[in-house]
Amino acid sequence: MKAQEIRKGIYWVGAIDWNLRNFHGYSTDKGSSYNAFLVIDEKIALIDAVKPHLTAELIKRISSVIDPSKIDYVISNHVEMDHSGAIPAIMEFAPNATVVASMQGEKGLKRHFGGDNWNFKVVKAGDSISLGKRSLSFVPIPMVHWPDSMVSYMPEEKILFSNDAMGQHIASEYLYDDEVGFSTFEEQAMKYYANIVLPFGKSVQAALKAISGLEIDLIAPSHGVMVRSYIKELLDMYQRWSLYGHKEKAVVIYDTMWNSTEIMAREIQYVLNEKNIPVKLINLTHSHISDAMTDLIDARYVFLGSPTLNNEILPTMGAFLTYLRGLRPANKLAFAFGSYGWGGQSPKILETAMKEINWEVPRPAFGINYIPREDDLEKFRQEIASFLG
Ligand code: FEO
Repeated sequence: MKAQEIRKGIYWVGAIDWNLRNFHGYSTDKGSSYNAFLVIDEKIALIDAVKPHLTAELIKRISSVIDPSKIDYVISNHVEMDHSGAIPAIMEFAPNATVVASMQGEKGLKRHFGGDNWNFKVVKAGDSISLGKRSLSFVPIPMVHWPDSMVSYMPEEKILFSNDAMGQHIASEYLYDDEVGFSTFEEQAMKYYANIVLPFGKSVQAALKAISGLEIDLIAPSHGVMVRSYIKELLDMYQRWSLYGHKEKAVVIYDTMWNSTEIMAREIQYVLNEKNIPVKLINLTHSHISDAMTDLIDARYVFLGSPTLNNEILPTMGAFLTYLRGLRPANKLAFAFGSYGWGGQSPKILETAMKEINWEVPRPAFGINYIPREDDLEKFRQEIASFLG
């Protein structure tokens, strides 16, 4: 449990959550990390902390380089428990330390932990503190991820401590982006954006503007690997995703009961193949909703399908709609489909849900009774072709 020096006198002292597989509904199949950083200068600053159950690990890493009672500043960029959970333990060691947070951060920390005896320094945009040879300045990025969120920038080292922004849920033996490789990095940054950051496009735009004047050599987020090689690529991705940009590609997200809706999904694939539009089929019995959301974010066309069960959609699709309503990806052309025995409500339920999140739904929902016959499928193919225009 040693601290790892990333620059002279600056250490990674976080914790790796190797076994994490669920982050409030997001399937974290690669685990995650809670990155915290210790700066030893004339003053000593701890930047963010870790989830409560990994507090001992944080303390051990700090203790491998200094006595934790010597900490002067505890920078809390974000009050959510995965970054603040260990702060009370740090304050036990260093009761005279100053906790630096945004105004909402101070309120949040007090609501979480009491903290009435703690010294707080509330910071706003442009405020900074000197640590000696180095300094930290603060940039609020509200709603990326919570109202209190801010980033800390060290101009002397050109390091942006970005907290939740630009993270990835990866537990890795490596500290840096190029050590895990671009494809893993991009895939996990995209999954993280799709499942955490997606509802806050306007806030991300504001955050990108706020940091646009900073010279950055290293982005040190609080989850996953640090970014030293793919900074431009990552900023470009955030720019594209926050504007809800898309590619000419399609996703078909569905579940099936007696294979009829599955047959319809494959007919959609057939029509899209004919038109040379890349398409991915995602059956929610076999795929997780957070992976479906990742594939969806840059797709222009979205097809949602479910058979009718008890006048409703299948529960897997119900869970997906709940998730979708919360994350609200914008700028989609959408189509609803499904099979039924008698009631036949499911395609309409899906269509209504898509309209409620302001997706463009130019064609009516399409249902097929029982097992699709060739004449049903021919009509369905024609309808899909009309939808694609
Ligand atoms: Fe990683 Fe919003 O906490």
